[in-house]
Amino acid sequence: MSERNRIVPRVGMIGGGQLSRMTHQAGIGLGVDFSVLAADPTDSAALVAGDVTLGDDRGLDDVLAFAKAHDVVTFDHEHVPEPVLRAVEEAGGLLRPGRDALRFAQDKLRMRTRMAELDAPSPRWRAVTTLDHVASFAEEAGWPVVLKASRGGYDGKGVWVVDGPEEAGEVVDRAAAEEVPLLVEEKVAFSRELAVQVARSPHGQVAVYPVVETVQRGGICHEVIAPAPDLSEAKALRAQQLAIEIAQALDVTGVLAVELFETAEDVVVNELAMRPHNSGHWSIEGARTSQFEQHLRAVLNLPLGSPRTNAPYTVMANLLGGEDPDVYRRYLHVMAKDPEVKVHFYGKGVRPGRKIGHVTVMGDDYRDLLERARDAASYLRGDQK
Ligand SMILES: Nc1ncnc2c1ncn2[C@@H]1O[C@H](COP(=O)(O)OP(=O)(O)O)[C@@H](O)[C@H]1O
Ligand SMILES: [Mg+2]
Repeated sequence: MSERNRIVPRVGMIGGGQLSRMTHQAGIGLGVDFSVLAADPTDSAALVAGDVTLGDDRGLDDVLAFAKAHDVVTFDHEHVPEPVLRAVEEAGGLLRPGRDALRFAQDKLRMRTRMAELDAPSPRWRAVTTLDHVASFAEEAGWPVVLKASRGGYDGKGVWVVDGPEEAGEVVDRAAAEEVPLLVEEKVAFSRELAVQVARSPHGQVAVYPVVETVQRGGICHEVIAPAPDLSEAKALRAQQLAIEIAQALDVTGVLAVELFETAEDVVVNELAMRPHNSGHWSIEGARTSQFEQHLRAVLNLPLGSPRTNAPYTVMANLLGGEDPDVYRRYLHVMAKDPEVKVHFYGKGVRPGRKIGHVTVMGDDYRDLLERARDAASYLRGDQK
């Protein structure tokens, strides 16, 4: 067998989900030597990557062995436990982002504490262990309040908007039984949700993307409009500067996504993700450098690419599984109906509500783009007969 000709360092991504799959896709163009640690051979990235290690993508032995086999290790999720990350770093493994940064994406209590230290605009919040704590917080902030599991949540799992003590009590009891630390936040009266991506390299170079609007339903991101229409320049700059400051203060390497709420006067930090993020999928077609390419450049300490946009607006809509798993006929129809729509599938089995892909469409009129993206997504889901 001939020797593989390696010209760039070996990047390993922990987790075989769609973020890993799309990062791999970007890595092909860059010529990056990319491999995946996936839990299952049918994971989204494991289905396509040429170099797949099957193993426990959260467990010490497999993560450690994987890190030893790569020059740089990065993540498609934040679920690798801290003791595992510590062991990898102590063994000389190079994690990007590193454990000290990742802690703030893994744990919402820590994140809130750190945001307060940085004076980043945040909702009122408090760590809570009893119903009394929640009730006394709600007396000040007013019901409803938002209870959150500090760790382990995603796509709205681990977030409960509670109207009063009875509902809050149920959440507190369940969290106590499962030993999940909780925090409570005031329910922010936001006009919409925003997100901003910034990439930061170990050299300290940063590249920030335009602020986008994210449309969430039931805790799941449904659509993204890039850039956020009619966002004031002051708020856009504020959001971008905040993202840069957070990336620097937390020593993030790779892509950082900051989820925000827009309020009448300001923007407010909701949460952080230190990896490519659903709110950045638009950038595959919509920006000179996609978030996936940018993440690879950043974790490899390469010069970053331009985050400039390719069109006045890009709209992305997530494809969620519906009741009918037979999407192929509808897939065909969506392509035929609007050839401008770019369809992305993640190779995942169809289950109701599961993110199985996304569509992207670019142009001048975001309302028209939104309508077309929504139409494609709802048709693929099987909502239209
Ligand atoms: N303090 C809050 N006030 C109002 N809505 C909130 C608040 N926190 C979260 N939400 C809503 O719940 C969604 C999910 O919360 P988030 O903390 O982002 O959890 P996840 O980790 O599941 O993404 C948010 O996108 C937003 O729609
Ligand atoms: Mg979120």
